[in-house]
Amino acid sequence: MLRTHTCGELNISNLGQSVTLCGWVQKSRDLGGTTFIDVRDRYGLTQLVLNTDTDATLREKSRELGREFVIKVTGKVLERSNKNTKIPTGEIEIAVEDIEILNAAKLPPFLIEDETDGGEELRAKYRYLDLRRAPIRNNLVLRHKMAQEIRKYLDGLDFIEVETPVLIKSTPEGARDFVVPSRMNPGEFYALPQSPQTFKQLLMVSGFDRYFQIVKCFRDEDLRADRQPEFTQIDCELSFITQEDILNIFEGLTQHLFKTVKGIDLGTFPRMQYVDAARLYGSDKPDIRFGMEFVELNDVVKGKGFSIFDNAELVVGINAKGCANYTRKQIDELTEWLKRPQIGVTGMIYCRYNEDSTLKSSVDKFYSEDELTNWAAAFNAEKGDLMLILAGQTDKVRKQLNELRLEMGTRLGLRDKNKFAPLWVLDFPLLEWDEESERYHAMHHPFTSPKPEDIALLDTDPGAVRANAYDLVINGTEVGGGSIRIHDRAMQSLMFKHLGFSPEEAQKQFGFLMDAFEYGAPPHGGLALGFDRLVSIFAGLDSIRDVIAFPKNNSGRDVMIDSPSTIADAQMTELKIKTTV
Ligand code: AMO
Repeated sequence: MLRTHTCGELNISNLGQSVTLCGWVQKSRDLGGTTFIDVRDRYGLTQLVLNTDTDATLREKSRELGREFVIKVTGKVLERSNKNTKIPTGEIEIAVEDIEILNAAKLPPFLIEDETDGGEELRAKYRYLDLRRAPIRNNLVLRHKMAQEIRKYLDGLDFIEVETPVLIKSTPEGARDFVVPSRMNPGEFYALPQSPQTFKQLLMVSGFDRYFQIVKCFRDEDLRADRQPEFTQIDCELSFITQEDILNIFEGLTQHLFKTVKGIDLGTFPRMQYVDAARLYGSDKPDIRFGMEFVELNDVVKGKGFSIFDNAELVVGINAKGCANYTRKQIDELTEWLKRPQIGVTGMIYCRYNEDSTLKSSVDKFYSEDELTNWAAAFNAEKGDLMLILAGQTDKVRKQLNELRLEMGTRLGLRDKNKFAPLWVLDFPLLEWDEESERYHAMHHPFTSPKPEDIALLDTDPGAVRANAYDLVINGTEVGGGSIRIHDRAMQSLMFKHLGFSPEEAQKQFGFLMDAFEYGAPPHGGLALGFDRLVSIFAGLDSIRDVIAFPKNNSGRDVMIDSPSTIADAQMTELKIKTTV
């Protein structure tokens, strides 16, 4: 090896040792006669001191050096007079005797330090340089550690890691497929997997019993902070299990990760029915780091002549504790924020519970102070609180109030990144009505089994059928989801029928799975955790981008390699793809 030590390990116990280090020049300071250099590698930073006064070779070499040059130095470990207590190597420095430039470097386009002056676009273009910075590098180290712990835990429970193909045919997980043309089969395309769903079910038919895979999935959908076109799942499937077994195993995995990687005991995860999540939080992924649950007010507010409330399907609000002192301007700003097209609220009603015990609402014309007392009772409000109320169509108003609740939670500092609130959401609806196509879609995916007691409703009230489907939510982020699957052909055909597939279409697309179900398919179920999301929660980040080594931007582009890009006409011809010239 070129080096005896890394740049992160030398300390006072190494005093007097002769060492050789390799790394990148982070900073160099010429103090006239002495030059100090910070040399960096993956492990840390070490200070070098060069006596350039008496040693002409060192003087010459140090003048050649620039930022990010790759060097190899040999010298003695000395105690520093000016100690830096912030870094592990801060008590020592290396008195350099020999320095070799392993490679020169152009001046980097931004500062490669914890705090950088580089904008997002520039750092994305030079991602390999950004990855030298400790905050980004640490995220990938964390990701690695988590992957190791996941493998350890699942291996300990007899899960077998199996690789499934990447060139497949479409699996419907609700997004668009990325497709790959087949040269050998002109005019035909593979699809990249949105998940290995059908393959993991086939592995159960094969008798593998417990499967997992840390696997890339591909979805052509609109991107957000927690969505990338290619992302990684911890994908799992088990045979001969109940929903309860699955929840326990993956609750155990999540607890194990928090314990071993962060030293945090999460305790038992609370569970909530989907219908309660919708009613109390207006979301299927409630952030339960804080309360501020919805209070439904139809019984309290209707029938007093205020038409907005009288005509609304649902009047519902939250109690913003301690916010009665919000000024009119602040409330107007909040209302404007809610009126943005993304949220689409038409107006917000509020009621202050003042410190002097008076109640003051924005609809005093319709409600006496006595009536407002009933409001306050419904909200469990105390002096100093501010009640915020929206009205409208049930699903819509719940979604809108969810946005307001999260915003108020943020404003009140209730969404602490160092606090972790896991939650199982259970009993999702099997089907979801899609206005655009005017038909039902599978809410999770078409392989999810309905609850046996609800099967009769499939013909009469499909929207009311509940599934054996569950999501793992942490701090308001959907970290994972899964279900107990259908494992017999008749039920799977029935499901496709309800999803609007003709028997021929169902056979063409999923015949391979239904055929397999006729050869002894065991009862099975599973789930997939979004690995990028899980790592970003551990790292305290809002976006999954910085836990991915080479992510795409919001337009799905990799600006470093400049992809996607056009391909040569010859390649198009070879793939039998027609050009539109
Ligand atoms: P689902 O579609 O819920 O289930 O996906 C599982 C988890 O994957 C993560 N995820 C994403 N992460 C980053 N970028 C994306 N574009 C993205 N899309 C999804 C989420 C999500 O909870 N086959 C089923 C699982 C099963 O039933 O076993 C599936 O893929 O954290």
